[in-house]
Amino acid sequence: MDETVSAEALRESEELHRITLLNMSDAVFITNDEGVFTFICPNVDVIFGHSHGEVQAMQRISRLLGCELVEPGQLSDGGEVRNIEHEVECKGGARRVLLVHVKRVAIRRGTILYVCRDVTERKQSEQALRRHDERLKLALEAASMGTWDWDVPSGEMTWSPETHRMFGDPAVRHTPSFPTFLERVHTDDRARVARTMTDAMDRGAVYETEFRLLGYDASERWIMARGKALRNGKPLRMLGVFVDLTERHQVDADLRELGGRLINAHEQERMRLSRELHDNVGQLVALLSVELELLRQQLRTSAPPVHAQFAKLFAHASELGSDLHRLSHELHPARLEHLGLEESIRCVCEEFAGARQIALHLEISDVSAGLDRDAVLCLYRIAQESLHNVVKHSGATRVDITLAAAPGEVVLRVADDGVGFDTRSVQQKGTLGLVSMRERARLVRGQLTVSSKPGDGTKIEVRLPTTGAHSIE
Ligand SMILES: Nc1ncnc2c1ncn2[C@@H]1O[C@H](COP(=O)(O)OP(=O)(O)OP(=O)(O)O)[C@@H](O)[C@H]1O
Ligand SMILES: [Mg+2]
Repeated sequence: MDETVSAEALRESEELHRITLLNMSDAVFITNDEGVFTFICPNVDVIFGHSHGEVQAMQRISRLLGCELVEPGQLSDGGEVRNIEHEVECKGGARRVLLVHVKRVAIRRGTILYVCRDVTERKQSEQALRRHDERLKLALEAASMGTWDWDVPSGEMTWSPETHRMFGDPAVRHTPSFPTFLERVHTDDRARVARTMTDAMDRGAVYETEFRLLGYDASERWIMARGKALRNGKPLRMLGVFVDLTERHQVDADLRELGGRLINAHEQERMRLSRELHDNVGQLVALLSVELELLRQQLRTSAPPVHAQFAKLFAHASELGSDLHRLSHELHPARLEHLGLEESIRCVCEEFAGARQIALHLEISDVSAGLDRDAVLCLYRIAQESLHNVVKHSGATRVDITLAAAPGEVVLRVADDGVGFDTRSVQQKGTLGLVSMRERARLVRGQLTVSSKPGDGTKIEVRLPTTGAHSIE
Protein backbone atom coordinates (compact mmCIF):
# COMPACT_ATOMS: atom_id res chain seq x y z
CA MET A 1 0.00 0.00 0.00
CA ASP A 2 2.79 2.42 1.01
CA GLU A 3 4.77 1.56 -2.09
CA THR A 4 1.79 2.33 -4.32
CA VAL A 5 1.37 5.72 -2.60
CA SER A 6 5.04 6.67 -2.97
CA ALA A 7 5.13 5.49 -6.63
CA GLU A 8 2.06 7.64 -7.27
CA ALA A 9 3.70 10.64 -5.48
CA LEU A 10 6.86 10.18 -7.55
CA ARG A 11 4.88 10.00 -10.79
CA GLU A 12 2.99 13.18 -9.84
CA SER A 13 6.23 14.96 -8.95
CA GLU A 14 7.83 13.91 -12.28
CA GLU A 15 4.73 15.11 -14.13
CA LEU A 16 4.88 18.43 -12.27
CA HIS A 17 8.55 18.88 -13.23
CA ARG A 18 7.80 18.04 -16.85
CA ILE A 19 4.93 20.57 -17.02
CA THR A 20 7.04 23.22 -15.30
CA LEU A 21 9.99 22.73 -17.63
CA LEU A 22 7.74 22.75 -20.68
CA ASN A 23 6.02 25.97 -19.72
CA MET A 24 8.81 28.10 -18.42
CA SER A 25 10.63 30.48 -20.70
CA ASP A 26 14.10 29.62 -19.31
CA ALA A 27 16.06 26.82 -20.95
CA VAL A 28 17.62 24.22 -18.64
CA PHE A 29 20.52 21.83 -19.44
CA ILE A 30 22.60 19.40 -17.44
CA THR A 31 26.04 18.24 -18.60
CA ASN A 32 28.83 16.15 -17.21
CA ASP A 33 32.23 17.64 -16.40
CA GLU A 34 33.24 17.25 -20.06
CA GLY A 35 30.33 19.45 -21.10
CA VAL A 36 28.38 16.60 -22.72
CA PHE A 37 24.60 16.90 -22.34
CA THR A 38 22.93 14.52 -19.89
CA PHE A 39 19.66 16.47 -19.90
CA ILE A 40 18.11 18.92 -22.39
CA CYS A 41 14.84 20.62 -21.46
CA PRO A 42 11.93 19.98 -23.83
CA ASN A 43 11.29 23.70 -24.60
CA VAL A 44 14.85 24.40 -25.86
CA ASP A 45 13.48 25.67 -29.19
CA VAL A 46 11.80 28.68 -27.51
CA ILE A 47 15.14 30.48 -27.04
CA PHE A 48 17.52 28.75 -29.44
CA GLY A 49 15.19 27.90 -32.35
CA HIS A 50 16.78 24.43 -32.52
CA SER A 51 14.61 21.37 -31.81
CA HIS A 52 15.37 19.04 -28.94
CA GLY A 53 16.83 16.51 -31.41
CA GLU A 54 19.06 19.13 -33.07
CA VAL A 55 20.52 20.15 -29.74
CA GLN A 56 21.04 16.55 -28.77
CA ALA A 57 22.98 16.03 -32.02
CA MET A 58 25.36 18.83 -30.99
CA GLN A 59 26.30 16.72 -27.96
CA ARG A 60 28.20 19.47 -26.13
CA ILE A 61 26.86 22.63 -24.57
CA SER A 62 29.87 24.58 -25.90
CA ARG A 63 28.54 24.00 -29.43
CA LEU A 64 25.13 25.37 -28.48
CA LEU A 65 26.48 28.40 -26.59
CA GLY A 66 29.43 29.02 -28.93
CA CYS A 67 32.07 28.70 -26.16
CA GLU A 68 32.92 27.14 -22.81
CA LEU A 69 31.18 29.45 -20.37
CA VAL A 70 32.85 28.09 -17.24
CA GLU A 71 35.66 25.71 -16.48
CA PRO A 72 34.09 22.83 -14.53
CA GLY A 73 37.12 23.02 -12.21
CA GLN A 74 36.00 26.53 -11.27
CA LEU A 75 32.93 25.11 -9.56
CA SER A 76 33.42 23.51 -6.18
CA ASP A 77 30.69 21.28 -4.69
CA GLY A 78 27.44 23.29 -4.64
CA GLY A 79 29.37 26.21 -6.20
CA GLU A 80 27.70 28.44 -8.76
CA VAL A 81 28.26 31.39 -11.07
CA ARG A 82 25.22 33.58 -11.48
CA ASN A 83 24.11 36.04 -14.16
CA ILE A 84 26.74 35.52 -16.85
CA GLU A 85 25.65 37.79 -19.68
CA HIS A 86 26.28 35.95 -22.92
CA GLU A 87 25.27 36.52 -26.53
CA VAL A 88 24.48 33.47 -28.69
CA GLU A 89 23.70 32.90 -32.33
CA CYS A 90 20.44 30.98 -32.63
CA LYS A 91 19.05 28.94 -35.51
CA GLY A 92 18.59 31.20 -38.55
CA GLY A 93 21.40 33.56 -37.42
CA ALA A 94 19.37 35.70 -34.95
CA ARG A 95 21.46 36.87 -32.00
CA ARG A 96 20.03 36.77 -28.50
CA VAL A 97 21.35 37.92 -25.16
CA LEU A 98 21.17 35.36 -22.34
CA LEU A 99 21.68 35.53 -18.62
CA VAL A 100 23.18 32.14 -17.72
CA HIS A 101 23.25 30.66 -14.26
CA VAL A 102 25.71 27.74 -13.84
CA LYS A 103 25.66 25.47 -10.76
CA ARG A 104 27.39 22.29 -9.69
CA VAL A 105 24.77 19.56 -9.06
CA ALA A 106 24.41 15.79 -9.06
CA ILE A 107 21.24 14.90 -10.98
CA ARG A 108 20.47 12.74 -13.97
CA ARG A 109 24.02 11.49 -14.28
CA GLY A 110 25.16 15.04 -14.76
CA THR A 111 27.29 17.40 -12.70
CA ILE A 112 26.66 20.86 -14.07
CA LEU A 113 23.30 22.64 -14.41
CA TYR A 114 22.84 25.52 -16.88
CA VAL A 115 19.77 27.77 -16.66
CA CYS A 116 19.55 30.22 -19.59
CA ARG A 117 17.21 33.20 -19.50
CA ASP A 118 16.53 35.25 -22.64
CA VAL A 119 16.98 38.97 -21.78
CA THR A 120 17.24 40.28 -25.36
CA GLU A 121 14.09 42.45 -25.16
CA ARG A 122 14.99 43.80 -21.73
CA LYS A 123 18.48 44.60 -23.01
CA GLN A 124 17.06 46.36 -26.07
CA SER A 125 14.66 48.45 -23.97
CA GLU A 126 17.51 49.35 -21.61
CA GLN A 127 19.63 50.45 -24.57
CA ALA A 128 16.71 52.41 -26.07
CA LEU A 129 16.13 54.06 -22.69
CA ARG A 130 19.82 54.90 -22.36
CA ARG A 131 19.89 56.37 -25.89
CA HIS A 132 16.72 58.33 -25.07
CA ASP A 133 18.31 59.59 -21.83
CA GLU A 134 21.46 60.60 -23.68
CA ARG A 135 19.45 62.44 -26.35
CA LEU A 136 17.41 64.20 -23.65
CA LYS A 137 20.60 65.12 -21.81
CA LEU A 138 22.14 66.52 -25.00
CA ALA A 139 18.97 68.48 -25.85
CA LEU A 140 18.83 69.90 -22.31
CA GLU A 141 22.49 70.86 -22.49
CA ALA A 142 22.09 72.42 -25.93
CA ALA A 143 19.13 74.46 -24.67
CA SER A 144 21.03 75.44 -21.48
CA MET A 145 18.39 73.65 -19.43
CA GLY A 146 18.75 71.81 -16.15
CA THR A 147 16.16 69.69 -14.41
CA TRP A 148 15.17 69.32 -10.78
CA ASP A 149 12.84 67.09 -8.84
CA TRP A 150 11.60 67.63 -5.29
CA ASP A 151 9.97 64.87 -3.28
CA VAL A 152 7.97 67.04 -0.90
CA PRO A 153 7.21 64.60 1.99
CA SER A 154 10.86 63.53 2.36
CA GLY A 155 12.22 66.98 1.41
CA GLU A 156 14.69 65.27 -0.92
CA MET A 157 15.63 67.28 -3.98
CA THR A 158 17.69 66.18 -6.98
CA TRP A 159 19.33 68.39 -9.59
CA SER A 160 20.71 67.34 -12.96
CA PRO A 161 24.44 68.04 -13.56
CA GLU A 162 23.43 71.03 -15.73
CA THR A 163 21.42 72.48 -12.81
CA HIS A 164 24.44 72.09 -10.52
CA ARG A 165 26.50 73.93 -13.18
CA MET A 166 23.96 76.79 -13.31
CA PHE A 167 24.15 77.06 -9.53
CA GLY A 168 27.94 77.44 -9.78
CA ASP A 169 28.48 73.95 -8.39
CA PRO A 170 29.86 71.89 -11.32
CA ALA A 171 31.67 69.48 -8.97
CA VAL A 172 28.35 68.68 -7.21
CA ARG A 173 29.58 69.58 -3.73
CA HIS A 174 26.27 70.92 -2.45
CA THR A 175 23.18 68.92 -1.55
CA PRO A 176 20.10 70.59 -2.97
CA SER A 177 16.97 71.30 -0.97
CA PHE A 178 14.12 73.80 -1.30
CA PRO A 179 15.48 76.16 1.43
CA THR A 180 19.02 76.10 -0.04
CA PHE A 181 17.57 76.74 -3.51
CA LEU A 182 15.73 79.80 -2.18
CA GLU A 183 18.90 81.02 -0.48
CA ARG A 184 20.58 81.21 -3.90
CA VAL A 185 17.76 83.33 -5.39
CA HIS A 186 18.54 87.08 -5.42
CA THR A 187 17.05 88.74 -2.32
CA ASP A 188 14.92 91.10 -4.46
CA ASP A 189 13.30 88.14 -6.25
CA ARG A 190 13.17 85.61 -3.41
CA ALA A 191 9.76 86.38 -1.90
CA ARG A 192 8.13 86.45 -5.35
CA VAL A 193 9.67 83.10 -6.39
CA ALA A 194 8.72 81.46 -3.07
CA ARG A 195 5.16 82.77 -3.49
CA THR A 196 4.86 81.49 -7.07
CA MET A 197 6.09 78.04 -6.10
CA THR A 198 4.05 77.62 -2.94
CA ASP A 199 0.99 78.85 -4.81
CA ALA A 200 1.58 76.22 -7.56
CA MET A 201 2.07 73.65 -4.81
CA ASP A 202 -1.23 74.56 -3.12
CA ARG A 203 -3.11 74.26 -6.39
CA GLY A 204 -1.16 71.36 -7.95
CA ALA A 205 -0.60 73.67 -10.88
CA VAL A 206 1.93 74.59 -13.52
CA TYR A 207 4.18 77.55 -12.75
CA GLU A 208 6.67 79.75 -14.57
CA THR A 209 8.87 82.44 -13.12
CA GLU A 210 12.09 84.33 -13.80
CA PHE A 211 14.68 85.33 -11.24
CA ARG A 212 18.30 86.22 -10.64
CA LEU A 213 20.45 83.52 -9.16
CA LEU A 214 23.57 83.98 -7.08
CA GLY A 215 25.71 80.91 -7.73
CA TYR A 216 27.92 79.17 -5.18
CA ASP A 217 30.82 80.50 -7.30
CA ALA A 218 29.51 84.11 -6.83
CA SER A 219 28.29 84.30 -10.46
CA GLU A 220 24.98 86.05 -11.16
CA ARG A 221 22.67 84.45 -13.72
CA TRP A 222 19.17 84.99 -15.04
CA ILE A 223 17.07 81.84 -14.77
CA MET A 224 13.61 80.91 -15.97
CA ALA A 225 11.98 78.14 -13.94
CA ARG A 226 9.06 76.24 -15.37
CA GLY A 227 7.44 73.12 -13.98
CA LYS A 228 4.55 71.42 -12.30
CA ALA A 229 3.45 70.59 -8.79
CA LEU A 230 1.79 67.23 -8.12
CA ARG A 231 -0.63 66.58 -5.26
CA ASN A 232 -2.30 63.55 -3.84
CA GLY A 233 -4.61 65.31 -1.41
CA LYS A 234 -1.47 66.95 -0.08
CA PRO A 235 1.73 68.21 -1.75
CA LEU A 236 3.58 65.27 -3.23
CA ARG A 237 6.18 66.27 -5.74
CA MET A 238 7.37 69.24 -7.70
CA LEU A 239 9.54 69.02 -10.76
CA GLY A 240 10.65 71.20 -13.58
CA VAL A 241 13.36 72.75 -15.67
CA PHE A 242 15.66 75.72 -15.23
CA VAL A 243 16.59 77.63 -18.36
CA ASP A 244 19.68 79.82 -18.30
CA LEU A 245 18.63 83.16 -19.81
CA THR A 246 21.80 85.04 -18.88
CA GLU A 247 23.07 85.37 -22.45
CA ARG A 248 19.67 86.39 -23.76
CA HIS A 249 19.36 89.05 -21.05
CA GLN A 250 22.83 90.29 -21.96
CA VAL A 251 21.91 90.55 -25.66
CA ASP A 252 18.67 92.37 -24.68
CA ALA A 253 20.62 94.76 -22.46
CA ASP A 254 23.15 95.40 -25.26
CA LEU A 255 20.32 96.03 -27.72
CA ARG A 256 18.62 98.36 -25.25
CA GLU A 257 21.84 100.25 -24.79
CA LEU A 258 22.39 100.47 -28.54
CA GLY A 259 18.79 101.63 -29.03
CA GLY A 260 19.33 104.23 -26.33
CA ARG A 261 22.50 105.50 -27.96
CA LEU A 262 20.82 105.71 -31.37
CA ILE A 263 17.90 107.65 -29.94
CA ASN A 264 20.25 109.99 -28.11
CA ALA A 265 22.29 110.52 -31.27
CA HIS A 266 19.02 111.21 -33.09
CA GLU A 267 18.02 113.80 -30.47
CA GLN A 268 21.46 115.45 -30.66
CA GLU A 269 21.23 115.68 -34.44
CA ARG A 270 17.72 117.17 -34.20
CA MET A 271 19.03 119.72 -31.72
CA ARG A 272 21.88 120.66 -34.08
CA LEU A 273 19.50 121.02 -37.04
CA SER A 274 17.07 123.01 -34.93
CA ARG A 275 19.79 125.44 -33.85
CA GLU A 276 21.06 125.69 -37.40
CA LEU A 277 17.56 126.50 -38.68
CA HIS A 278 16.79 128.90 -35.89
CA ASP A 279 20.08 130.77 -35.58
CA ASN A 280 21.37 130.63 -39.12
CA VAL A 281 18.80 129.96 -41.84
CA GLY A 282 16.04 131.59 -39.76
CA GLN A 283 18.12 134.74 -39.25
CA LEU A 284 18.90 134.93 -42.95
CA VAL A 285 15.21 134.67 -43.85
CA ALA A 286 14.36 137.35 -41.28
CA LEU A 287 17.02 139.58 -42.80
CA LEU A 288 15.64 138.89 -46.26
CA SER A 289 12.16 140.07 -45.10
CA VAL A 290 13.62 143.25 -43.66
CA GLU A 291 15.56 144.00 -46.82
CA LEU A 292 12.56 143.30 -48.99
CA GLU A 293 10.53 145.76 -46.91
CA LEU A 294 13.28 148.42 -47.24
CA LEU A 295 13.44 147.90 -50.95
CA ARG A 296 9.66 148.22 -51.22
CA GLN A 297 9.80 151.57 -49.42
CA GLN A 298 12.58 152.84 -51.71
CA LEU A 299 10.55 151.88 -54.75
CA ARG A 300 7.60 154.05 -53.73
CA THR A 301 7.49 155.62 -57.14
CA SER A 302 7.40 152.43 -59.15
CA ALA A 303 4.34 151.04 -60.86
CA PRO A 304 1.57 149.28 -58.82
CA PRO A 305 2.29 145.80 -60.32
CA VAL A 306 5.85 146.01 -58.96
CA HIS A 307 4.39 146.90 -55.54
CA ALA A 308 2.08 143.94 -55.66
CA GLN A 309 4.97 141.67 -56.62
CA PHE A 310 6.99 142.95 -53.64
CA ALA A 311 4.11 142.40 -51.26
CA LYS A 312 3.89 138.81 -52.49
CA LEU A 313 7.65 138.25 -52.04
CA PHE A 314 7.41 139.75 -48.59
CA ALA A 315 4.53 137.44 -47.64
CA HIS A 316 6.45 134.38 -48.92
CA ALA A 317 9.51 135.35 -46.91
CA SER A 318 7.40 135.76 -43.72
CA GLU A 319 5.70 132.42 -44.29
CA LEU A 320 9.09 130.77 -44.82
CA GLY A 321 10.29 132.39 -41.60
CA SER A 322 7.41 131.06 -39.52
CA ASP A 323 7.66 127.58 -41.10
CA LEU A 324 11.33 127.48 -40.20
CA HIS A 325 10.53 128.63 -36.70
CA ARG A 326 7.89 125.91 -36.27
CA LEU A 327 10.18 123.24 -37.74
CA SER A 328 13.02 124.30 -35.51
CA HIS A 329 10.76 124.00 -32.45
CA GLU A 330 9.44 120.66 -33.58
CA LEU A 331 12.97 119.34 -34.03
CA HIS A 332 14.09 120.42 -30.62
CA PRO A 333 11.40 121.06 -28.06
CA ALA A 334 13.11 123.90 -26.18
CA ARG A 335 9.64 124.68 -24.87
CA LEU A 336 9.70 121.47 -22.83
CA GLU A 337 12.17 123.21 -20.57
CA HIS A 338 10.29 126.49 -20.48
CA LEU A 339 6.69 125.37 -20.48
CA GLY A 340 6.87 121.88 -18.99
CA LEU A 341 5.42 118.65 -20.38
CA GLU A 342 1.72 119.37 -19.90
CA GLU A 343 1.78 122.78 -21.61
CA SER A 344 4.11 121.54 -24.38
CA ILE A 345 1.77 118.65 -25.21
CA ARG A 346 -1.11 121.15 -25.27
CA CYS A 347 0.86 123.30 -27.77
CA VAL A 348 1.65 120.28 -29.99
CA CYS A 349 -2.05 119.37 -30.01
CA GLU A 350 -3.09 122.89 -30.94
CA GLU A 351 -0.53 123.08 -33.73
CA PHE A 352 -1.78 119.80 -35.11
CA ALA A 353 -5.43 120.63 -34.86
CA GLY A 354 -4.70 124.05 -36.41
CA ALA A 355 -6.47 124.37 -39.71
CA ARG A 356 -7.48 120.68 -39.75
CA GLN A 357 -11.04 119.45 -39.25
CA ILE A 358 -10.18 117.26 -36.27
CA ALA A 359 -11.91 117.78 -32.93
CA LEU A 360 -9.35 117.55 -30.15
CA HIS A 361 -10.35 116.54 -26.61
CA LEU A 362 -7.61 117.09 -24.09
CA GLU A 363 -7.52 115.85 -20.53
CA ILE A 364 -4.13 116.76 -19.21
CA SER A 365 -3.21 116.64 -15.54
CA ASP A 366 -0.05 117.67 -13.84
CA VAL A 367 2.22 114.62 -13.94
CA SER A 368 5.81 115.87 -14.32
CA ALA A 369 6.65 115.67 -10.62
CA GLY A 370 7.49 111.95 -10.77
CA LEU A 371 9.22 111.99 -14.16
CA ASP A 372 12.85 112.56 -15.06
CA ARG A 373 14.06 114.42 -18.19
CA ASP A 374 14.24 111.31 -20.37
CA ALA A 375 10.71 110.23 -19.41
CA VAL A 376 9.36 113.73 -20.14
CA LEU A 377 11.05 113.79 -23.57
CA CYS A 378 9.74 110.25 -24.23
CA LEU A 379 6.11 111.25 -23.55
CA TYR A 380 6.47 114.41 -25.62
CA ARG A 381 7.93 112.54 -28.61
CA ILE A 382 5.28 109.82 -28.41
CA ALA A 383 2.48 112.41 -28.32
CA GLN A 384 4.10 114.17 -31.27
CA GLU A 385 4.52 111.01 -33.40
CA SER A 386 1.02 109.73 -32.51
CA LEU A 387 -0.50 113.00 -33.67
CA HIS A 388 1.65 112.95 -36.83
CA ASN A 389 0.23 109.49 -37.55
CA VAL A 390 -3.35 110.62 -36.85
CA VAL A 391 -2.97 113.42 -39.38
CA LYS A 392 -1.07 111.33 -41.91
CA HIS A 393 -3.00 108.03 -41.83
CA SER A 394 -6.21 108.04 -39.81
CA GLY A 395 -8.71 110.37 -41.53
CA ALA A 396 -10.12 110.78 -37.99
CA THR A 397 -12.65 113.44 -37.00
CA ARG A 398 -11.94 113.19 -33.28
CA VAL A 399 -8.85 112.60 -31.18
CA ASP A 400 -8.80 112.13 -27.40
CA ILE A 401 -5.55 112.83 -25.59
CA THR A 402 -5.23 111.95 -21.94
CA LEU A 403 -2.22 112.46 -19.72
CA ALA A 404 -2.82 111.24 -16.20
CA ALA A 405 -1.02 110.03 -13.10
CA ALA A 406 -1.86 106.56 -11.74
CA PRO A 407 -0.31 104.86 -8.69
CA GLY A 408 3.39 104.43 -9.47
CA GLU A 409 3.05 105.45 -13.11
CA VAL A 410 2.06 108.05 -15.65
CA VAL A 411 -0.23 107.16 -18.54
CA LEU A 412 -0.50 108.90 -21.89
CA ARG A 413 -3.27 107.89 -24.30
CA VAL A 414 -3.89 109.12 -27.83
CA ALA A 415 -7.06 107.64 -29.33
CA ASP A 416 -8.58 108.47 -32.69
CA ASP A 417 -11.81 107.43 -34.41
CA GLY A 418 -10.14 106.99 -37.80
CA VAL A 419 -9.66 104.12 -40.24
CA GLY A 420 -7.43 102.02 -37.94
CA PHE A 421 -4.99 99.41 -39.23
CA ASP A 422 -3.88 95.82 -38.87
CA THR A 423 -1.19 95.90 -36.18
CA ARG A 424 0.22 92.50 -37.27
CA SER A 425 1.00 93.47 -40.86
CA VAL A 426 2.55 96.82 -40.00
CA GLN A 427 5.85 95.25 -38.86
CA GLN A 428 6.73 94.32 -42.44
CA LYS A 429 6.43 97.95 -43.57
CA GLY A 430 9.82 98.88 -42.17
CA THR A 431 8.58 102.25 -40.92
CA LEU A 432 10.15 104.01 -37.97
CA GLY A 433 7.41 105.84 -36.08
CA LEU A 434 5.87 103.00 -34.03
CA VAL A 435 9.22 101.22 -33.61
CA SER A 436 10.91 104.27 -32.15
CA MET A 437 7.91 105.00 -29.89
CA ARG A 438 8.21 101.49 -28.48
CA GLU A 439 11.97 101.78 -28.12
CA ARG A 440 11.72 105.15 -26.37
CA ALA A 441 9.20 103.71 -23.90
CA ARG A 442 11.37 100.66 -23.23
CA LEU A 443 14.42 102.84 -22.57
CA VAL A 444 12.67 104.50 -19.66
CA ARG A 445 11.27 101.15 -18.47
CA GLY A 446 7.82 101.90 -19.79
CA GLN A 447 5.40 99.96 -21.92
CA LEU A 448 3.71 100.98 -25.12
CA THR A 449 0.52 99.34 -26.36
CA VAL A 450 -0.91 99.91 -29.81
CA SER A 451 -4.55 98.86 -30.17
CA SER A 452 -6.07 99.15 -33.60
CA LYS A 453 -8.30 97.30 -36.03
CA PRO A 454 -9.21 98.27 -39.59
CA GLY A 455 -12.30 100.47 -39.41
CA ASP A 456 -12.15 100.83 -35.65
CA GLY A 457 -9.77 103.68 -34.81
CA THR A 458 -6.39 103.54 -33.12
CA LYS A 459 -5.33 103.86 -29.51
CA ILE A 460 -1.73 104.39 -28.41
CA GLU A 461 -1.13 103.97 -24.72
CA VAL A 462 2.16 104.43 -22.94
CA ARG A 463 2.76 103.71 -19.25
CA LEU A 464 5.93 104.95 -17.60
CA PRO A 465 6.91 104.16 -14.02
CA THR A 466 7.41 107.26 -11.91
CA THR A 467 10.81 107.71 -10.30
CA GLY A 468 11.06 105.62 -7.18
CA ALA A 469 8.51 103.07 -8.47
CA HIS A 470 10.06 99.61 -8.26
CA SER A 471 10.46 97.61 -11.43
CA ILE A 472 12.14 94.33 -12.25
CA GLU A 473 14.52 94.58 -15.14
N1 LIG B 1 -3.51 106.61 -36.15
C1 LIG B 1 -3.38 105.78 -37.18
N2 LIG B 1 -4.43 105.51 -37.98
C2 LIG B 1 -4.32 104.67 -39.02
N3 LIG B 1 -3.18 104.01 -39.35
C3 LIG B 1 -2.09 104.24 -38.60
C4 LIG B 1 -2.13 105.12 -37.48
N4 LIG B 1 -0.91 105.12 -36.91
C5 LIG B 1 -0.14 104.28 -37.64
N5 LIG B 1 -0.84 103.76 -38.66
C6 LIG B 1 -0.38 102.74 -39.63
O1 LIG B 1 0.78 102.17 -39.11
C7 LIG B 1 1.87 102.32 -40.01
C8 LIG B 1 3.15 102.50 -39.24
O2 LIG B 1 3.18 103.73 -38.56
P1 LIG B 1 4.59 104.42 -38.37
O3 LIG B 1 4.41 105.65 -37.58
O4 LIG B 1 5.52 103.36 -37.84
O5 LIG B 1 5.05 104.70 -39.85
P2 LIG B 1 4.72 105.91 -40.83
O6 LIG B 1 3.96 106.98 -40.12
O7 LIG B 1 4.09 105.32 -42.05
O8 LIG B 1 6.17 106.39 -41.22
P3 LIG B 1 7.25 107.13 -40.26
O9 LIG B 1 8.37 106.14 -40.18
O10 LIG B 1 7.61 108.36 -40.95
O11 LIG B 1 6.59 107.37 -38.95
C9 LIG B 1 1.48 103.49 -40.86
O12 LIG B 1 2.12 103.42 -42.11
C10 LIG B 1 -0.02 103.33 -40.96
O13 LIG B 1 -0.35 102.38 -41.94
MG1 LIG C 1 4.61 107.75 -38.30
